[in-house]
Amino acid sequence: MTLIGLSILLLLLLLLQISLLFAWQDYKDYHVYELTPRDANEQSLLRQLAREQPHWDFLGPRRRQNDSTVRVMVPHEEVASLVALFDGHRLQHRLLIEDLAPLVQAQRAEYLRRKQRLQLPHIDVLAAFYTLAEINEYLDSLPERYPRRAQVKLFGWSYERRPIKVLTISNGDGRRNKPVILIDGTVHAREWISPSMALYIIQQLLEHFEENQELLQDYDWVIVPVVNADGYEHTHSEARYWRKTRKPTSDPECVGTDINRNFGYEWGHDEGSSSLPCEDIYRGERPFDQPESQVLRDILLHHSERLRWYLSLHSFGNSLLLPWGYTNTLPNNYDDMMAVADAGAMAIVHATNGIYSYGSTNYVLYPTSGDTVDYALGVANASVAMTMELPAGGFLGFDPWVSHIEGIVTESWVGVRAMAVEVIRRYGSHS
Ligand SMILES: *[C@@H]1O[C@H](CO)[C@@H](O)[C@H](O)[C@H]1NC(C)=O
Ligand SMILES: *[C@@H]1O[C@H](CO)[C@@H](O)[C@H](O)[C@H]1NC(C)=O
Ligand SMILES: [Zn+2]
Repeated sequence: MTLIGLSILLLLLLLLQISLLFAWQDYKDYHVYELTPRDANEQSLLRQLAREQPHWDFLGPRRRQNDSTVRVMVPHEEVASLVALFDGHRLQHRLLIEDLAPLVQAQRAEYLRRKQRLQLPHIDVLAAFYTLAEINEYLDSLPERYPRRAQVKLFGWSYERRPIKVLTISNGDGRRNKPVILIDGTVHAREWISPSMALYIIQQLLEHFEENQELLQDYDWVIVPVVNADGYEHTHSEARYWRKTRKPTSDPECVGTDINRNFGYEWGHDEGSSSLPCEDIYRGERPFDQPESQVLRDILLHHSERLRWYLSLHSFGNSLLLPWGYTNTLPNNYDDMMAVADAGAMAIVHATNGIYSYGSTNYVLYPTSGDTVDYALGVANASVAMTMELPAGGFLGFDPWVSHIEGIVTESWVGVRAMAVEVIRRYGSHS
């Protein structure tokens, strides 16, 4: 290469690096505060503030439990008004993080370093977080490695035309139309432990088949590791704490809809979702106006006649959330679902002392409207429908270090496995 060619190449590389730097939201000087509401009044005040200030990221304020702390993430230029607001309401607060940037950067460096040894399509679930492309490459390799037991289907596309893939795992005995356990992950983009958990479950069922045979004797497992494909990609390439989809809204300032408020069963209640495009729980203009919601809906309906257990993996909160979200009344089969949740929570507490709360979403967490679990029970006729809020990690709860993956997914597998055993025991082998 000539000298001129070389310098042009170097210049291009430099420009590329600069544009990457600009694309990546580094959270420079973002502050994180922690608040502990002292009573029910302060709790409802926090809930109200969270609604009025959608661009400040209140994490967990709508929770009903009153011993829980709330974290708020704000950019530097808004710190003064946030603190003034807290002081005005006499809300005790504590500065937890003065600049989120080096922490986000350190985590990024950690997982990029871990991935240098990555040899696709093989992945080590415990050693790193993976991008959508890496996860899809891994999924696509499974039918070849497990020709009788793994099948991958492309069920649809995200708004930005990324493939949403579905893996079906069976025991290979050729029996068709077994009842189904359906698990999804990454409805919310920033909840990175969720796809890790989905991948870990896949590895347990495929690679550790011998010790988990009973789970596949009469049931097929259908697993969708990444529902919110665009949002998840965005958390890897642009903004680590993105939650929603990437489809523009009626407000040019605000992108994205919450898939978990966009489902067409009791959609649109103001208590439990928002009509404001800038809010994190924006429900969209119409039910299912997000391509990703349509794909997940189609997956649920496709399996609906055989759907015994729908499990949606989220983080964080250590809770097992059952329908309903939209109302404080309970579904008819609530006791059956509670028995399944109970089996999971008990197995976890025995294994690790991990504490889970469980019950209806509306009671344990807060009202939600248009969530996937209500739809799975109300429309897709799942026998048991459940959100699992995996344990918190990292600075904001959504961002565990790579070194925490193993502890979280092995503990959670104990619970998922125990619940599957209970589902199979209760609902048997007839579809
Ligand atoms: C916690 O909440 C419950 C129900 O809202 C209430 O009865 C109780 O007094 C609260 N406890 C504290 C310490 O705020
Ligand atoms: C769910 O069950 C009801 C009542 O049996 C039935 O009318 C409905 O068609 C079922 N839904 C689906 C999606 O199969
Ligand atoms: Zn979530």
